[in-house]
Amino acid sequence: MEARGAVCFAVFIVIIANSTALQISADDQAQEQIITAYSPFSIALKTLQKQINYTFDRIDLLRRAMTHASFSQENNKALSVLGTSIIETSVSLRYLVDDIDVSTKVLNMKIAEIVNVESSCAVDGMRLGLHTVIRVSRKTNSTAPAVVCGAFRAIFGAIAIDTGSSDNAGNVFWNVHAHNGVVAL
Ligand SMILES: *[C@@H]1O[C@H](CO)[C@@H](O)[C@H](O)[C@H]1NC(C)=O
Ligand SMILES: *[C@@H]1O[C@H](CO)[C@@H](O)[C@H](O)[C@H]1NC(C)=O
Repeated sequence: MEARGAVCFAVFIVIIANSTALQISADDQAQEQIITAYSPFSIALKTLQKQINYTFDRIDLLRRAMTHASFSQENNKALSVLGTSIIETSVSLRYLVDDIDVSTKVLNMKIAEIVNVESSCAVDGMRLGLHTVIRVSRKTNSTAPAVVCGAFRAIFGAIAIDTGSSDNAGNVFWNVHAHNGVVAL
């Protein structure tokens, strides 16, 4: 009788121990998810999506757009190339729709104006506060115009991939650019 009681007690202890262990590992996982979801970077990405009025299906694309080459192998360089091309196409389209006889000189000037790093691109990026969001290495100055501008352009490359359409990305660009107080046309 006593032996049976001891076995029962042992089984009881094993069950308790196991369920506690499970509980702890579930808590750890939940804790980890909370830490990821509420990290300053994740919060900054949420705010940024509100600012540009676009919500990503694939948040990893925005993460990448906000990652400088000095920080990681997975960075925004290629997204930035796509973004530049989207901005240029979108500017050309707007001006030609407005005036099919626009001269190549004027058109090229308008494109150059809008993609200019110091006067346009970095200004748009700084207004969005991208210098406080972008992940860079410790040695890299995140307020350098080239860094801010690269991140700004990469946003539109990322949207094009997220939506599978460069038109959508171009629309978000005009919206952000206009809200930054720059006269579009
Ligand atoms: C944000 O986007 C939605 C649709 O995507 C649009 O209805 C709304 O007007 C936009 N808001 C701003 C401030 O651009
Ligand atoms: C970072 O770059 C900005 C803009 O180019 C400059 O004004 C600032 O002095 C730089 N900061 C450092 C620490 O180099």
